[in-house]
Amino acid sequence: MSQTQPTPTAQDSGSKATDKFKNVQVHSDTSKERAFAIYKDVLDALGQIAQKHQVTYDEYRVLKNWLIQIGEYGEWPLWLDVFLEHEIEKINYDRHSYVGTKGSIEGPYYVPNAPKLPAQCEMPMRDQDKAAPALFFQGQVTDLEGNGLGGATVELWHADEEGYYSQFAPGIPEWNLRGTIVTDEEGRYDVKTLRPAPYQIPHDGPTGWFIESYGGHPWRPAHLHLMVKHPGYREITTQLYFKGGDYTDNDVATAVKPELILDLQQESDGSSSVTYNFALDKES
Ligand code: DHB
Ligand code: FE
Repeated sequence: MSQTQPTPTAQDSGSKATDKFKNVQVHSDTSKERAFAIYKDVLDALGQIAQKHQVTYDEYRVLKNWLIQIGEYGEWPLWLDVFLEHEIEKINYDRHSYVGTKGSIEGPYYVPNAPKLPAQCEMPMRDQDKAAPALFFQGQVTDLEGNGLGGATVELWHADEEGYYSQFAPGIPEWNLRGTIVTDEEGRYDVKTLRPAPYQIPHDGPTGWFIESYGGHPWRPAHLHLMVKHPGYREITTQLYFKGGDYTDNDVATAVKPELILDLQQESDGSSSVTYNFALDKES
């Protein structure tokens, strides 16, 4: 596919992800005792790994340099969300007895307060996005008994047909392919967007060197990101994938779950359509 915009570099998307994350108010009411227990286990685990592999001084200095580079490239959000977030997501899902729609990782490219869109809408997109195969995505947000939740919000954000996200790759309008869809009285939504391309995590920086060093690949399967909210119900952060899509069974971020794979209906004009419903657990 033709290159219609400057290729983003790892340093560029990394530093944007880091700058955005710095604006998020982070806070945890972890006790001193619990924090210390975690720190101690991390240190013990690192020590054990160093012992197990008899790590040399040269190797130690290479590690130190790599950690410095990850910081300088702003790649901590990228690296952590690719290699650790799926474990955190699983822990926090398994801790509750949720039965509603499964969650998945948020990743580094969520931006809050995307423009509100009505239940029937088209995502904000450029002419070049309109030329890509369209995706008609519809469904209903319900409680666990199947009652529609009117006025629920479905925040949708995804990469474009070249695999790039607005606000993180250069030259894309601010809210391109980002929106907060408000469901109708019955909890339904019906949105026209495009089928995103698989996403390659920026690999010309230290996260890429890391992947190369173990002979891995930097690809995530094509995916839609969603955050579904309604007062009184558990908020769901998730992703949806496409059946048969490249890397669906080999995601660098280990974030695919079978329940989250869409089976698209292909139309003769190249577009596709799918219905996916979200069931929200009551907030406990
Ligand atoms: C990364 C990017 C994504 O779009 C995503 O969903 C998860 C992780 C990343 O580059 O780290
Ligand atoms: Fe993503």
